[in-house]
Amino acid sequence: MTLLESPLTLPSGLVLPHRIVKAAMTENLSDADNQPTTRHEALYRRWAQGAAGGLLVTGNLMVDRRYLERSRNIVADAHLDVARLRRVREAARPSPVIAQLNHPGRQTNRFLASTPVAPSAAAAVPMMGMFARPRALEAVEIEKIVAAFGAAAALCQDAGLDGVQVHAAHGYLLAQFLSPHVNQRTDRWGGDVTGRSRALVESVRAARTRTGPGFTVAVKLNSSDFRHGGFTEDDAEQVIRLLVAEGVDLIEISGGTYESPALFGEVAELGSGASAKEAYFAAFARRARAAAGDVPVMLTGGIRTRSVMEALLADGGVDLIGLGRPVAIDPDLPAKLLAGAPGTTLPRYTLPTAIGFAGESEWYEAQIGRMGAGLEVKPGLNAAVAATRFVAGELGRGLSARRRRARLVASTPG
Ligand SMILES: Cc1cc2nc3c(=O)[nH]c(=O)nc-3n(C[C@H](O)[C@H](O)[C@H](O)COP(=O)(O)O)c2cc1C
Repeated sequence: MTLLESPLTLPSGLVLPHRIVKAAMTENLSDADNQPTTRHEALYRRWAQGAAGGLLVTGNLMVDRRYLERSRNIVADAHLDVARLRRVREAARPSPVIAQLNHPGRQTNRFLASTPVAPSAAAAVPMMGMFARPRALEAVEIEKIVAAFGAAAALCQDAGLDGVQVHAAHGYLLAQFLSPHVNQRTDRWGGDVTGRSRALVESVRAARTRTGPGFTVAVKLNSSDFRHGGFTEDDAEQVIRLLVAEGVDLIEISGGTYESPALFGEVAELGSGASAKEAYFAAFARRARAAAGDVPVMLTGGIRTRSVMEALLADGGVDLIGLGRPVAIDPDLPAKLLAGAPGTTLPRYTLPTAIGFAGESEWYEAQIGRMGAGLEVKPGLNAAVAATRFVAGELGRGLSARRRRARLVASTPG
């Protein structure tokens, strides 16, 4: 048996039959009330078919209805239709499924919330004018967000999911707290690494307290923000130690933010032509592994070939291999890799820089949408068309659903 084929049991007791994991990818497939739909069921049935029983991490579910990452995210608050989420979970059998939980903070687009929130009133995220300048959260609001992560985890447990992954990477709210570039607070939620980690650590604790020891609580963390004055690898190492002390079951390593999209290999610090290289964050994974003790480490970002996967596992720096874009264009890839296939190369993007990053992500999102609609993926899909449709869709749906969301927010307890 190769390392890729070998099973792994997480500290929670969750058994993974092999080492390939489908990483979180936003689906944008909810209904107008941000409930799970039959499109999620079709999509997860498709991914489960190709996953050979491997772990599926869902796209991010929002913990606060006012601040969404996409207009059609699932929201895991008191209005969640748990029976519908259970149907999605059932569609994904026999794969274990954990739901990623997120609050986008200042990466909430302006069509969804004209004033987003952040640890401090930092500058707006500069991306196609999509984001507005945030206001600083009050301390009491931060406590509510921490509680919302716990409540969302409890709902996922009720729906039969195997666990949750708290999203603290890619520049979303918990990563904003971690970053001294965005978090300039002087209260207990800011300052040194311990203060900047508090929102993450307490959210993890809330998720654990609301669910219990047999439920997997994972975290997705940046190795670094790849930005001057931001979250560094030294910070990340310390955060990993704090998370281990909290009893997390799995730490996934990624990197970058909307401002510096290292998650797709697109920053200079990763070296020239990094996006053509594999395993963007492999060097940090070794440090993460040393700090994580017995807690398994998953690495995601640019991993494409079976030989690199086996080498990462053999090196001992990585326990699980996360795949994002490759399974959005080839949902059967995990099963193929396990059967001995060499891996895959992905399309290259030559879009104008102004829409380059968004264009790439949205092209894959469009493929995910196709699978949700029961269609096959379409490699020939035009990337500029996908990006344009995305912006128009977010604008139209974001603005038109504002009143609906406000009504549900007003009737949300707490
Ligand atoms: C369409 C799309 C949606 C994504 N949504 C999420 C998400 O909801 N949460 C998350 O942590 N990462 C998200 N990612 C990032 C992936 O999980 C992964 O970190 C990134 O794609 C790099 O891995 P890859 O090179 O295997 O694609 C998304 C990526 C894509 C392409």
